[in-house]
Amino acid sequence: METFSLGTSALKASQLAYGCWRIGGPGESSEITLEREAAGSRASLAAFEAGYTLFDLADIYCHGEAERIFGKVLKSIPGMRERILIVSKCGIRKAGDPDADSPYRYDFSAGHIIWSCEQSLKRLGLERIDLYLLHRPDYLCDPEEVAQAFSRLKQAGKVAEFGVSNFSPAQFAALQKACPMRLIANQVEISLMKLDCFHDGTLTQCSTEQITPMAWSPLGGGRLGASDPIDLRDADHARRLHIREVLDLIARSRETSRAVIAIAWLLKHPVKILPIVGSTDPERIRELTKAVDVHLTREEWYRLLEAALGHRLP
Ligand SMILES: NC(=O)c1ccc[n+]([C@@H]2O[C@H](COP(=O)([O-])OP(=O)(O)OC[C@H]3O[C@@H](n4cnc5c(N)ncnc54)[C@H](OP(=O)(O)O)[C@@H]3O)[C@@H](O)[C@H]2O)c1
Repeated sequence: METFSLGTSALKASQLAYGCWRIGGPGESSEITLEREAAGSRASLAAFEAGYTLFDLADIYCHGEAERIFGKVLKSIPGMRERILIVSKCGIRKAGDPDADSPYRYDFSAGHIIWSCEQSLKRLGLERIDLYLLHRPDYLCDPEEVAQAFSRLKQAGKVAEFGVSNFSPAQFAALQKACPMRLIANQVEISLMKLDCFHDGTLTQCSTEQITPMAWSPLGGGRLGASDPIDLRDADHARRLHIREVLDLIARSRETSRAVIAIAWLLKHPVKILPIVGSTDPERIRELTKAVDVHLTREEWYRLLEAALGHRLP
């Protein structure tokens, strides 16, 4: 895969990133078994061997287990660390942490950001995270306090670059104003199932400010790739059926799979969307890299957009 610069930074990533959310098993509260850990390691390794050079993690993925599993993979493969970029996130705190009655909440206090980053480094067995993101906007966010935490992490050499996730353009701009360093990425949900960032100014801001949009759940959490029957009681079923139909049509003409076309649709955008592939199946992880060689025509792209919108363009 070719590489490109993340935002205005010197970091270079492959055109597809690999997401480690599911490497500890399905669901946030999955119990980690040796079998699951082995499958997660195999998936991470398959991504590395297939040419993915950016790996996306978070402190909360499987309660820190995803970082621990990935850290073990890094340790077992000489030279892997030097060839990849590691992204992690903080800011979401689960119910029951640290006390049994603690509620689910967001926390951008300087103390929590710094503590969480240090815990992630320990689990990963690393000295530095390449890109550190705030996971979801904290309702009580104080941009000046976040800027101080970021500065301390940067000065200590614990983080190279910073960004955010699930931020609106206004939230991004407010935090950027307080930060002495450039924020280089906004990780948001983008797929044919989720078009918000095309309309809410997110991609426009990414383009004008040179911010890399990282697309989470690029296959709608699997809904765009899977072939299971669509529940006709689902309010959205007609739109989903139509998206699948158009994907299948294009996939057949290009002798590839529906999932590859769904990823190629994201890659076509000139802002350079970075899709984060989330499959844990080594075969699928390899197969999806074919998307970088599929260059959809404007007509194919718009046919899919209309299907995804569920109505004709004006
Ligand atoms: N910042 C945030 O708030 C946020 C939120 C969610 C996710 N993320 C990041 O985004 C990454 C990707 O999210 P995601 O896992 O939801 O992405 P996704 O690629 O949309 O979905 C992956 C899921 O789809 C399933 N799937 C079904 N058919 C498939 C096919 N034909 N090809 C590929 N996958 C298929 C996979 O199952 P198999 O494993 O069996 O292939 C897997 O469970 C995460 O790992 C995480 O790093 C970030």
